[in-house]
Amino acid sequence: MTTAPIADRSTLVAARATELSKIYGQGETQVVALDRVSIDFRQAELTAIMGPSGSGKSTLMHCVAGLDTFSSGSVSIGETELGSLKDKQLTKLRRDKIGFIFQAFNLLPTLNALENITLPMDIAGRKPDKQWLDSVIEMVGLSGRLGHRPAQLSGGQQQRVAVARALASRPEIIFGDEPTGNLDSRSGAEVLGFLRNSVRELGQTVVMVTHDPVAAAYADRVVFLADGRIVDEVYGPTADSVLDRMKRFDAKGRTS
Ligand SMILES: Nc1ncnc2c1ncn2[C@@H]1O[C@H](COP(=O)(O)OP(=O)(O)OP(=O)(O)O)[C@@H](O)[C@H]1O
Ligand SMILES: [Mg+2]
Repeated sequence: MTTAPIADRSTLVAARATELSKIYGQGETQVVALDRVSIDFRQAELTAIMGPSGSGKSTLMHCVAGLDTFSSGSVSIGETELGSLKDKQLTKLRRDKIGFIFQAFNLLPTLNALENITLPMDIAGRKPDKQWLDSVIEMVGLSGRLGHRPAQLSGGQQQRVAVARALASRPEIIFGDEPTGNLDSRSGAEVLGFLRNSVRELGQTVVMVTHDPVAAAYADRVVFLADGRIVDEVYGPTADSVLDRMKRFDAKGRTS
């Protein structure tokens, strides 16, 4: 396989948020979930998003992935600005270019594991690449569970179905909301290793939310959110350097 040098491709932006704000509710109950966030997610880069519960991580990913509306600012995927799209065009862009691993899995209870994995492609009328699909299923360790429905699977297994579903169609950009949050450390390491390899070797772009410094250390960059704003960024993170930052934010939170 020949691939262009990563350095060349990493300068291309896969997704971008500019001055992105998301406000829920009005008046006294108003919550500013995102407060003028500007960020680029470069191609062939693995970005981890960290921050306290309620800091806006899921909201940021949902808005950038075109799954949620925003109050102001703009979002683009590649060259396409989401605000300029009609509903149908947005659905198509999401289906063709974006893979999403939800915090709550979002599996369909009446479909078995394999059907859940191939559902987005079935809807799009696309045939899965069998070889790729098999390697994804093997990587997540679901070969023996493909005929089971979500209720017959453990939480960790359901999460692996959700991971396989996002990877199956080889989207340009994958968003994962705590994609390894329910996995034991070995399965988690396998999924993270696979994501990182797909970034390194295939130029895949991945953005994932995590609370785990060890998971964040797989990333090329860690972005820290607090109160709907980006407050820090670390390149080439290690578990220790991430933990260090987290402690510093905690300390700030306690003294303020
Ligand atoms: N539908 C909604 N209506 C009102 N407020 C909301 C809604 N969804 C999220 N929020 C608020 O927006 C803020 C950001 O939420 P978000 O889910 O993005 O946080 P998070 O960083 O993903 O947290 P966690 O780590 O717990 O998943 C929170 O204060 C939350 O209460
Ligand atoms: Mg969340």
